[in-house]
Amino acid sequence: MYYIGADLGTSSLKMLLLDEEKNILNSVTESYDLIFPNPGWSEQNPEDWWNAFETGIKKLTKDIDASQVAGIGIAGQMHGLVILDSDDKVIRPAILWNDGRTSNETDYLNTVIGKQKLSDLTANIAFAGFTAPKILWVKANEPENFKKISKIMLPKDYINYLLTGVHATDYSDASGMLLLDVKNKCWSKEMLDICSVSEDMMPKLFESYEKIGTLLPDIAKHLGLPENISVAAGAGDNAGAAIGTATVGNGKCNISLGTSGTIFISSDKFGVDDNNALHSFCHSDGGYHLMGCMLSAASCNKWFCEEVLKTEDFAFEQMGISSDLLGKNNVYFLPYLMGERSPINDTDATGMFIGLRPDTDRYAMLLAVLEGVAFAIRDSLEVAKKLGIEISKSTVCGGGAKSKLWMKILANILNIDLHIPKVEEGPGFGAAQLAMVASGAKESVSDTIEIKEIVSPDKELSLLYQQKYDKFKSIYPAVKELYKIL
Ligand code: XUL
Repeated sequence: MYYIGADLGTSSLKMLLLDEEKNILNSVTESYDLIFPNPGWSEQNPEDWWNAFETGIKKLTKDIDASQVAGIGIAGQMHGLVILDSDDKVIRPAILWNDGRTSNETDYLNTVIGKQKLSDLTANIAFAGFTAPKILWVKANEPENFKKISKIMLPKDYINYLLTGVHATDYSDASGMLLLDVKNKCWSKEMLDICSVSEDMMPKLFESYEKIGTLLPDIAKHLGLPENISVAAGAGDNAGAAIGTATVGNGKCNISLGTSGTIFISSDKFGVDDNNALHSFCHSDGGYHLMGCMLSAASCNKWFCEEVLKTEDFAFEQMGISSDLLGKNNVYFLPYLMGERSPINDTDATGMFIGLRPDTDRYAMLLAVLEGVAFAIRDSLEVAKKLGIEISKSTVCGGGAKSKLWMKILANILNIDLHIPKVEEGPGFGAAQLAMVASGAKESVSDTIEIKEIVSPDKELSLLYQQKYDKFKSIYPAVKELYKIL
């Protein structure tokens, strides 16, 4: 039998075809547009995701007997607000996880409703990218659209809804809406009231590895797939990547360097950090996790190479960075291209270079970009350390993990061992495993994985980077007020 795992990302949909032994038989990537209608806003058309899914499935299954496909699972970009009217039509483009328009609504939730109350109800406070502030934004700014809302869902749930006709979500993705009582795994009635939405607008909740339904007959025919395929509830992309990197059970860590950068700490017990600087979410293995999320990670490298250096050959560009410069670069970069979530929660923050001199070249600036992203991941790791969580190693997935140089920098800045999995496509690989469990082919998701390479920190270099991190740490507090003026 075959299993399809999809990663509904911000820049593209990546799909994998697996056999029962978890061998990847085929993979397809379909890109779509990211729309920035105003500075700090970020939207996508759900129809574009569906078109990518349709095209992708056909390419993925073209050389196999498609009647043998037994399960589909999707791990999707989190927090995006998708709203449908009573005819199941998409009301407006989806407002994405990295959209910063909701500062008024986020302030209202954190100050008027209050952080303590939000944390008591949902285990989290409001961040601009979360779904609840977006609902309040639509209510305040697009009342006509708000009145039309019949169903609220997250990005991957939209695809699952078109596939099965079942309005469902899973606990890991639902956690990022600020509407879920994370500890008790149910919708918070009080939060729904605060956002003026009713429970019948909300998707039905499932564990990620549960089956929500099978394909609608018309859809099955259209996609050339059998009707009895099990569709798993799926997961938020980070929880999906955690399955794909065997970050399941207690105390394991995965770092994802995609458009966003996340540090994901798996736990079998529910827990909240005192300042809610890390998100406290459900895991797709049935447990919980803490997570720090930076809004621009590998996207900083992409931005600097493509928009500034005008090259798409990232690997070639990195080859120009002399190893002598590691730990000695005096240029610093704050990676806040879309504002920042963890741990500073500042929608006004922007990217920034500091330390430029007449002899600064493109390589020193590129290195500063790679280092700045790693320092910002360290900021979240420091919060975890203060909670008494000890992390000595982590898996790494996402596009950034492909760069040996970046992995060396990250290992030395975090001063931990980095385990690079053989399969790079964390969320899609995890989602396919959720599909296997949902279809009954496996009892539970796997907690082991093949590791391609271990990157360990070097004593001297990690000391140099410790000194640099101490300086990096002092830049944001010094410019914080300036961002408000800018
Ligand atoms: C996590 C988050 C991002 C998106 C990216 O909280 O916002 O990692 O899920 O796809």
